[in-house]
Amino acid sequence: MRILITGANGQLGRSLQRALASHEIINLGHAELDVSDPECIDQWMNQEKPNVVIHCAALTDTNLCERAPASARAVNGIGTHNVARSCAISGARLVAISTNEVFDGVKASPYVEDDRPNPLNAYAVSKFDGESLASAAHRDTLIVRASWLYGRGYVNFNEKVLVAARDGRPLSFVTDEIATPTATDDLAVAIRELLERDAPAGIYHLSNNGEASRYDWAVEILRLAGLADTQVASVTMAELRATGYAGAMKPAYSVLANTRAAALDIRLRDWREALAAYFAHRPAMADG
Ligand SMILES: NC(=O)c1ccc[n+]([C@@H]2O[C@H](COP(=O)([O-])OP(=O)(O)OC[C@H]3O[C@@H](n4cnc5c(N)ncnc54)[C@H](OP(=O)(O)O)[C@@H]3O)[C@@H](O)[C@H]2O)c1
Repeated sequence: MRILITGANGQLGRSLQRALASHEIINLGHAELDVSDPECIDQWMNQEKPNVVIHCAALTDTNLCERAPASARAVNGIGTHNVARSCAISGARLVAISTNEVFDGVKASPYVEDDRPNPLNAYAVSKFDGESLASAAHRDTLIVRASWLYGRGYVNFNEKVLVAARDGRPLSFVTDEIATPTATDDLAVAIRELLERDAPAGIYHLSNNGEASRYDWAVEILRLAGLADTQVASVTMAELRATGYAGAMKPAYSVLANTRAAALDIRLRDWREALAAYFAHRPAMADG
């Protein structure tokens, strides 16, 4: 396959570059391709003629999206439409990456692919717009929803927790925001498998298996890094907001159930196993 990756220098983009090494890949970072510019996308598509586009480019800072919802929509909504429209013209398959945050979190069991989204924050609204616009513009679109990504060589949640611990800063994490930490290396392999098995268009939920709160995740990071003695306080989202925290609203429970990819025998391992693998290789990963 000849595969063009947007946002290729982000966490998932870098993992895809490694996972897809046996295919022809065209890696476009933000400097080469701004997805809010439809002409630029068409130029790349005409020049490179990929048969698949994996669209990772996004504004992923949820608090920034909350402050600048128009920018979020321009990149995550309209930008995704621009990519889909260009794929529809050229006939390339599209894999558009989306998020667990499209759900409102009131369901008490994992969300399946057909559950109805109801986004709570500006980032999630813009990502759901992107999903809807892409599917309407191009029939051959695979929407891949994932949660809580961390990738090598990147300032991800794992690294932020470790830096804060080593700086001796007080650590506290919420116990009532629950999803699944997901290694981008695992997600990239699962996306490759979807493509190689010629998965039908539609929505796929792909996260590592199991569930955790932010607190559980942080405690496991510290344990794996040999810092299990670090004091970590637990708070609820309500307690955090009562202290003046004004970040984006998050779904309380947004675990994704993988039913459609599992039917193609595509499953990701448990999140603790994936996190242990990240830490087992971390010295090499720190260089990206
Ligand atoms: N991170 C998560 O926890 C998470 C969870 C679920 C789903 N997702 C989704 O998964 C996908 C990949 O996420 P990620 O964590 O790999 O994100 P990331 O590391 O933030 O990478 C996103 C990339 O998109 C680029 N970008 C931003 N605006 C752009 C634009 N207008 N045109 C082209 N490129 C642009 C960024 O470049 P610059 O930095 O140079 O601007 C960055 O390299 C995204 O669709 C995201 O919404 C992420």
